[in-house]
Amino acid sequence: MTGAAGFIGSHLAEKLLSEGHSIVAVDALTPYYDPRLKRANAASLMRSEGSSFIEADLRTCDLDPILDGVDVVYHQSGQPGVRASWDSGFASYVDQNILVTQRLLESVRKRPLERFIFASSSSVYGNALRYPVSESDLPRPQSPYGVTKLAAEHLCAVYARNWDVPTVSLRYFTVYGPRQRPDMAMHRMCEAALARAAFPIYGDGQQMRDFTFIDDVVEANLLAARSRVAPGAVFNIAGGTTTTLLEVTEIVGELEGAPMSLEHHVAQRGDVERTGGSIEEAQRILGWEPRTPMRRGLSKQLAWHRQRRLVAATTASP
Ligand code: UGA
Repeated sequence: MTGAAGFIGSHLAEKLLSEGHSIVAVDALTPYYDPRLKRANAASLMRSEGSSFIEADLRTCDLDPILDGVDVVYHQSGQPGVRASWDSGFASYVDQNILVTQRLLESVRKRPLERFIFASSSSVYGNALRYPVSESDLPRPQSPYGVTKLAAEHLCAVYARNWDVPTVSLRYFTVYGPRQRPDMAMHRMCEAALARAAFPIYGDGQQMRDFTFIDDVVEANLLAARSRVAPGAVFNIAGGTTTTLLEVTEIVGELEGAPMSLEHHVAQRGDVERTGGSIEEAQRILGWEPRTPMRRGLSKQLAWHRQRRLVAATTASP
């Protein structure tokens, strides 16, 4: 598992451990956001006998000892975030999303492997011509970030076609839930609601996202590892809850019992107006479908933020 201390990786690793699997958990603990949060995500992995946690930079480290004996690679690491991928930030996206994926694919092509799962993104689509988008629709990324995710997907397909590497790319649609990255909208919204502070909203708030709950994304990975899938396959993993950002602020306000206050900022370049994915292929081939309605998922995320703040307040008090 790469990116094992991240939001998605840590949940997936815990699930695999709970099923009795052994995991080689790798993470570079990059400073895109506070590495202390990543260590907290990975705390149970670091303690568990079923996993070995390796802090390593996948751009340079020796991959052979890491991959020895591995059946499935869950490649969840990467440089995430749409809005930071402009300008000099782009180099890190190329390194972490394209070069690391290519290095891993080169290393696994000589090995017997059951599956190589790549964490892709709905950002490969950009503003689509029709919704819900299907995997066969032409991807036209709107951000440099989306370009690097699409390039990595193509690398997976290239290694599948030439070397029979059993790759699967999962296009995640705005994943949320406990441990969500602190740069993401729902994380910031929950923190703002609990602090009775204003949520910085980019643009008019009418942008729509097909939000997907973390447990459903974990389930999609498990099914992608275990199902019969043609090498190079690509699937949308979308929650089926296309909602505007303003509507999400209203739900958070209702859950918290106090309307949210908003602080308006200009729309961000690279942001798409809408995401919405067809999950027909994932249903048909993986037998996957999302099970978590947004209000339920959001209330679980809000409860996690509440608990975190409680722990922080208790540790801070004399
Ligand atoms: C998210 C992730 O950040 C990407 O890494 C991922 O690849 C992508 O989802 C995907 O899976 O499709 P995004 O949809 O931009 O990208 O998700 P958020 O960061 O949660 O932003 C959602 C919307 O809220 C955006 O329009 C954004 O501009 C807005 N936003 C975000 C705010 O208005 N204020 C904030 O403080 C943060």
